[in-house]
Amino acid sequence: EKGGFETFMLKEIHEQADAVADTIADRTVRPDGVDLPELDDELLRGATRLIIVACGTSYHAGLIGRYALEEWARIPVEMDVASEYRYRNPVVGPGDIVIGITQSGETLDTLAAMRLARERGATVIAVTNIMGSQATRDAHSTVYTRAGLEIGVAATKTFVAQVAVMYLLALRMAELRGTLTPERRTELVTRLKRIPHDIGVMLDKGSETIDRVAERHFEKEFFLYLGRHVGLPVSLEGALKLKEISYIATDAYAAGEMKHGPIALLDQDTPVVVVATDSPVLEKVISNIQEVKVRGAHVIAVATEGTDLGDNAEDTLRVPPTDWMLQPLLAVIPLQLLAYRIARLRGLNVDQPRNLAKTVTVE
Ligand code: F6R
Repeated sequence: EKGGFETFMLKEIHEQADAVADTIADRTVRPDGVDLPELDDELLRGATRLIIVACGTSYHAGLIGRYALEEWARIPVEMDVASEYRYRNPVVGPGDIVIGITQSGETLDTLAAMRLARERGATVIAVTNIMGSQATRDAHSTVYTRAGLEIGVAATKTFVAQVAVMYLLALRMAELRGTLTPERRTELVTRLKRIPHDIGVMLDKGSETIDRVAERHFEKEFFLYLGRHVGLPVSLEGALKLKEISYIATDAYAAGEMKHGPIALLDQDTPVVVVATDSPVLEKVISNIQEVKVRGAHVIAVATEGTDLGDNAEDTLRVPPTDWMLQPLLAVIPLQLLAYRIARLRGLNVDQPRNLAKTVTVE
């Protein structure tokens, strides 16, 4: 049932091209727009604010969604982890759309946050991978990810499918609200439809650099992850993957925050993973890489093929070019694989890490 792979996690990492392809398939038939018939057009057109609630990896997918929704649909977006949102007496009501992202559809805190918002008059949308799960019953409408069943405890293919749904939602809202030109929408839909191919090419290429980085650093006690803009949630997700399956302490920070504290952690030995894919903030990220390098730490960069980062990074994990806003769908993959390789070198059971459950139905 592992289809020739040594673990479910590795199999599921390799199913990510299909997870994205299936999730966007019939929703990206028009060249210049997205269709999400599960959602009411009037609702999306009239919303004054979006609030995204989720836990763990699903929260990271939501963070990427927030950048896309703000950038493309120009709508204010609020975001919180569900366990905080539900206990902070949030200001929420009619006119708000609350989006609960939950792969399993059964995460207690996310369900509670969705119910609270619904009681207060908000419209609630579930983004889930499981048909008929509790989230679909608690929400007014549901947009399904189509990643197929995920068995590994660490979320991988469900994450990319969630990110794809958030992009679809942002593009749909942008069209309804007239905030992107048809040309820009066409460009984004075209790029999005190419992502499964890009993922496939990347996975087929093999992972020599990743293996080398893993060999060099698997006995380290700490990894720092840095990113800016959509690279930040990718850093957060890469750090979470490493900590949950390899039990190595990680911290993930907005790169611009580095000099406000985390830089004190750096010494000659620290591996620092920096998401440095093409974007309008790449120059800033490169400055951060230089700051890390002068402290003697090892920089492991994730960068777009063909982009010169200077000789600042010790190792560079390359991803294919795409629209900069869509980069997370590609950039997360080397970080999943890096976490995977390190955990295997440490001899750990990646499919069932200690203390973790696939579905968290308790607080
Ligand atoms: C991380 C992971 C968890 C889940 C979180 C939310 O790899 O799997 O952080 O993302 O427990 O789960 P769902 O999406 O089912 O609500």
